[in-house]
Amino acid sequence: MNILSSSQFTPDNIQKIFTLADDIQKNPNQYKNILDDKIIASIFYEPSTRTRLSFESAVQRLGGKIISAENANEMSSAKKGETLADTIRVLNGYCDGIVLRHPSDDSADIAAEVAEVPVINAGSGAREHPTQALLDLYTIYKQKKTLDNLKIAFVGDLKYGRTIHSLIKLLAKYKNNTVYGLSQKELSLPSQYIDIFNQYHHYHAIHSIDDLPKDLDVIYQTRTQLERFESAHQGQFEMIIDNALLNSFNKDLMLLHPLPRGPEIAADCDQNPRAFYFQQAHNGIPIRMAILVYVFKQ
Ligand code: NCD
Repeated sequence: MNILSSSQFTPDNIQKIFTLADDIQKNPNQYKNILDDKIIASIFYEPSTRTRLSFESAVQRLGGKIISAENANEMSSAKKGETLADTIRVLNGYCDGIVLRHPSDDSADIAAEVAEVPVINAGSGAREHPTQALLDLYTIYKQKKTLDNLKIAFVGDLKYGRTIHSLIKLLAKYKNNTVYGLSQKELSLPSQYIDIFNQYHHYHAIHSIDDLPKDLDVIYQTRTQLERFESAHQGQFEMIIDNALLNSFNKDLMLLHPLPRGPEIAADCDQNPRAFYFQQAHNGIPIRMAILVYVFKQ
């Protein structure tokens, strides 16, 4: 089984992964040797701290072994002109599963086409980041105890933010959710994601921070993905959230961010009880452990 896109999940198998993540945290000893027959390759063609290290930690906590290229653009044979497909064909003989991050939107699909072992998409261009979306959703679920009837605002770079693209597809699978998208016009959410969400729900594009409803359940703030801009940018794109603004929302609002953050969340928010972004990053371990168990042992 591959993990390529958040579209592949149903509420049932999402619940299965969440239940596994809960059980792994309660009974870590029962899982500590479960991948002891597996070698996982972690191949990253783009920078990463959380995704790569939490995957590698998750593999090791399950007793598996890791081989890795952490700077695959420079340090793998990609530098010598090897195609992604050829690299994957070679890795087929070296490992039992591949965790891949790559700047091309279709990289995970290209890899899955030639892979003879499971491929887990750890970020494909601006398109998808399904394991991040699962840990984001888990963070919301642990706090809110439901994934229905939520009011969520995505803020920042909605055009290139792959974590948003994967998460909005998951939110579309539940009942009666409302999403507000706050960005400058240049960074609006592409229509294909709006269309998926609007099949069952309501998406509202807004362009001023003053238009954010005060009774939101979640604000999901993001970094401007300057590395994906087609031409040099002019001006400032960040919609900055500081502690004073954060305090103007309901007490039970959750502020999430996939991290790394730039200036878009002021440091004075960190102690605010509404700030959940570090807890969110820590949920990467149980969720990625659960995904690995789901892929290799179910
Ligand atoms: C995100 C990514 O790589 O898409 N980071 C992550 O995986 N936590 C978000 C980002 O880089 O802005």
